[in-house]
Amino acid sequence: MICIIGASLAGDMAAATLRQEGYAGPILLIGDEAEVPYDRPPLSKEALTGDAPESRFYLRAESWYAEQGIELRLGAPVTAIDPAAHTLRIGAVEVVKYEKLLITAGARARTLPGMEASPVPAYVVRTLEDARQLRAALRPGTRVAIVGAGVIGMEVAASASTRGCHVSVVDFADRVMARVLPPELSAYMAELHTSHGVDLLLDAGSVSLTATGIRTSKRGDIDSDLIVIGIGVVPNTELAAAAGLACRDGIIVDEYCRTSDADIYAAGDVTRYPNPFGGGDIRSENWKHAQNQAVTAARNMLGKEEAYGAVSSMWSDQYDVKLQTVGDIGTGAATLRGEANSRKFMLIYQNEAGVVLGALGINQAKDMRFVQMLVEKRAVVEPGLLADPKQDLRKLAA
Ligand code: APR
Repeated sequence: MICIIGASLAGDMAAATLRQEGYAGPILLIGDEAEVPYDRPPLSKEALTGDAPESRFYLRAESWYAEQGIELRLGAPVTAIDPAAHTLRIGAVEVVKYEKLLITAGARARTLPGMEASPVPAYVVRTLEDARQLRAALRPGTRVAIVGAGVIGMEVAASASTRGCHVSVVDFADRVMARVLPPELSAYMAELHTSHGVDLLLDAGSVSLTATGIRTSKRGDIDSDLIVIGIGVVPNTELAAAAGLACRDGIIVDEYCRTSDADIYAAGDVTRYPNPFGGGDIRSENWKHAQNQAVTAARNMLGKEEAYGAVSSMWSDQYDVKLQTVGDIGTGAATLRGEANSRKFMLIYQNEAGVVLGALGINQAKDMRFVQMLVEKRAVVEPGLLADPKQDLRKLAA
């Protein structure tokens, strides 16, 4: 029996991969949420603005799991792992024996002190239930104060603004989406939001909750009808740590996605893994990583020895902008392809030797696929070719 703790994207992908790779034994996919496994990226976007039924966000039809012989246990919190006995406990008493275990427990939203007791309703956006509640509260004219100008904060700002709310965003950082974007693109995204009437209060100092909204130490008070907190996530390592697995802001895995116990693997947001493109180890919070690392983990659980080395990428949809990044965009020289500050351009990053390290695109969905191929190949390309929109990136990547 292979058990998987965490029935979200990584857990679901791993279960599917085990079957695709020919594993015929029992698979138990366990999730503490009561929902059929669903996709999280829409929660801060379509789930807040659109009218689609929630089943649209499911990763697969509910019937798929039974068809694949994957036992799906929902609303079932795993409360302990005993690596020596090869068992895990669900709830208070149920004990399940595993041969191999995969932990895809993900991460939870970080909260602010006093959030639970806040007189002004305060929300995080991590689960379908979070999105359900926030959606119901977003009405035209609602004053929304968002703490955190990161990915979630800015996506919710765009969604709430689209719903006709009055939106303010505060952050102690001096630019938006600083974890994922270089400064020039933070400025671009900030301008996009202010042009839609969002009030951005950056470099705001410390933030606390008050009886009428939020207080910032440097930019004053903001009264609001509701508060959204998007100040990052915390990996769910407690279970692994209690079982004696090595953890440090994430469950430590090797390049084969194996934890410090030979029969326990981990994948997705919850892992800290060797950086395939540099020194040290990293934790990655993005959809592609969760998907790709889960596939590698599942294959390795079946005896393959594949090192995980996928190029990272992310995307975000805000208003009419699809923002995408691939690879390393923090270093190297940037080449502009297209017209800066327009609604369609790309920045491509290269090192001194001309190796393509990464790229960032605004409404460049098609070309991003080809740039990703250049990054994966570590291709060396003349910057002048990259800068010329008449040059077909597909051909350069071939
Ligand atoms: N007060 C104000 N701002 C804060 C505070 C605080 N106490 N703590 C953190 N912040 C700010 C950071 O400066 C940063 O700008 O919150 C922002 C968090 O941004 P992200 O790291 O992008 O995290 P978040 O937006 O919460 O996204 C969480 O969801 O979509 C995924 O990829 C995303 O994994 C990420 C997760």
